[in-house]
Amino acid sequence: MSNILILGSGGREHALAYKIKQSKDCKQLFVAPGNAGTHKIAINLDLNILDFKAVSEVIKKHDIDLLVVGPEAPLVQGITDFFKDKSGFENLKIIGPSQKGAELEGSKETAKKFMQAHNIPTAKYQSFKAETLAEGQAFLETLKAPYVLKADGLAGGKGVLILNDLDEAKTELANMLQHNKFGEASATVVIEEFLDGIELSVFVLTDGKSYKILPNAKDYKRIGEGDKGLNTGGMGAVSPVPFADDAFMQKVENKIVKPTIEGFQKDQIDYKGFVFIGVMKVGDEPFVVEYNVRMGDPETEVVLPRIKSDLVETLELTAIGKLEQASLEITEKAAATVMLVSEGYPESYEKGKTIVGLNNVSEDDAIVFHAGTKVVDNKIMSNGGRVMAVTALGQDYKKALNKSYAEINKICFDNIFFRKDIGFDLE
Ligand code: AMP
Ligand code: GLY
Repeated sequence: MSNILILGSGGREHALAYKIKQSKDCKQLFVAPGNAGTHKIAINLDLNILDFKAVSEVIKKHDIDLLVVGPEAPLVQGITDFFKDKSGFENLKIIGPSQKGAELEGSKETAKKFMQAHNIPTAKYQSFKAETLAEGQAFLETLKAPYVLKADGLAGGKGVLILNDLDEAKTELANMLQHNKFGEASATVVIEEFLDGIELSVFVLTDGKSYKILPNAKDYKRIGEGDKGLNTGGMGAVSPVPFADDAFMQKVENKIVKPTIEGFQKDQIDYKGFVFIGVMKVGDEPFVVEYNVRMGDPETEVVLPRIKSDLVETLELTAIGKLEQASLEITEKAAATVMLVSEGYPESYEKGKTIVGLNNVSEDDAIVFHAGTKVVDNKIMSNGGRVMAVTALGQDYKKALNKSYAEINKICFDNIFFRKDIGFDLE
């Protein structure tokens, strides 16, 4: 039996907590900082998760055996390396790659070099700095529209511009490189070929040697119906992805997953954790759009409910390098989730709205994963743009979605907004 600490506060972390809590191996479960949903099933700890010393004190105090890092920021800042070889933490098991591994998400240029070195299919690219702006603009002239410009560093999911007009692309390149459009993150910009296809999220759990491919998912990133409007963290998801059939997933495994894990070994990257591969299906071929070094949100809210086997056992085997001993059982059922957000998100929005009706949601039909919520005077209040994700399982994604939408009708808060067309493109 293990004491477990999850870092993070979103729907992803509530979904991790929900699944971990079901394990026979879970003794005490802590989430830092957590939300009103994790508060119900675990002990929330008020903690700055980028303050590794504070995290280490909590780990000592609560005798934590397994640390599961939810978001990318602590990984990119080196939390795994912080505990490696640290006296008193020899037995701490960690889910999350080393800083070198986390660079696959922390630097788009590093990710592109990794893919090039290991022959992993991805869009052709070149990268530029302020000194090479003129070369970058000349490179744009050799490409066809649309133009894809990516800030090298972490930019909260906002650092990618896709532009149809060459002059606009040249101006934006200058804004990124010379005028710090995305701050330090755009000191280097990757310009790449546009991939014309349909996107899915592929999840892999690895101990750096062996791997398990988890259920795949499709995320709906735009705020508006028909995938229009501003990019968000994700407005809903379905799993599995109907267009990713067995033949296609076999190609993903052979051309992308295997060479990625072999690449970790060749490059001596210590990687024990989740790899989230953004894949574009172009015709029948898979290309990597990006690597993330964590689970996706809201994808986790559909991926984990489809896993039948014990997650703690699998995570512990991963952390000690024995993932090959784990067995993963996945339900045939489909899962869908719809994100309830605050009107105005992803721009400005109001918080502090009382959420009512949660007790009317049928626990047999849906799971409510909290994201931006908190408990104030025993009431559950909205506390972010993405407020909660309502997940349901069904024989296929449409039945799952119908259930999810039926349960959403029972939940209410001021300025609630959600997309009513999740899955619209899967017909
Ligand atoms: P990224 O942060 O790299 O995932 O990029 C954000 C989004 O931009 C992706 O989820 C894609 O929808 C889109 N995107 C990124 N790179 C490309 C590309 N080369 N071709 C087409 N779309 C892209
Ligand atoms: N849903 C996309 C992400 O987690 O980055």
